[in-house]
Amino acid sequence: STVPVLTIDGPSGSGKGTISRLIARRLGWHYLDSGALYRAIGVAAGWSDVDLADPAALVRCAFDTRIEFDESGEELRILVNGMDATDELRTETAGAAASAIAAIPEVRSALKERQRAFRQPPGLVADGRDMGTVIFPDASCKVFLTASAEERAERRYKQLKDKGVSVTLESLLREILARDARDAQRAVAPLRPAEDAVCIDTTGMSIDAVVERVLALLPAR
Ligand code: C5P
Repeated sequence: STVPVLTIDGPSGSGKGTISRLIARRLGWHYLDSGALYRAIGVAAGWSDVDLADPAALVRCAFDTRIEFDESGEELRILVNGMDATDELRTETAGAAASAIAAIPEVRSALKERQRAFRQPPGLVADGRDMGTVIFPDASCKVFLTASAEERAERRYKQLKDKGVSVTLESLLREILARDARDAQRAVAPLRPAEDAVCIDTTGMSIDAVVERVLALLPAR
């Protein structure tokens, strides 16, 4: 495909989601929140009592779950099988379920084409763990965002608190470290920068500063 793609990968709380959405808006490009797909499948599996230890049933979920991104309002809403699941998807429970099912190779391949279908003119910003390594290896520009675990936990904490979710910083830090370790150590599509990715440590950086850094990497438009 000749449609340009900017991939933004990194661990949870690295700022991928916020940065990707802002850049997509600035460029007028489409946005793929690939983590939301894994979260949606985890949540849909929970709704229908599918066992997170039953790979075959989870693969069926990956094929059957309808996931829609509604960008018509102020905030992006995510519908799972027609139901607004935006808030449920953001919880760390959904994140942990996503990380468990994301380790199943067949679930990952079931989602491959669905993710690639987001590559539509005039361009795509794709955020996740394997956007630059597996899903869009030919992306025009690849970024890998990191930040200290403490800062990432704090960012998530603020995000969840703003949404009215009650969590403690300590438990969040523990959960984030466990999820990152699992994502980095799994056999398929582990969390790691693509060889041709530009790594940016966002610890102590403002959102605007990161957006500008990433935009500066794109070929002149
Ligand atoms: O980015 P987010 O925190 O929403 O992702 C939730 C989980 O989904 C991650 O911890 C990871 O296990 C999985 N994921 C993945 N590949 C992606 C995006 C997310 O394995 N491209």
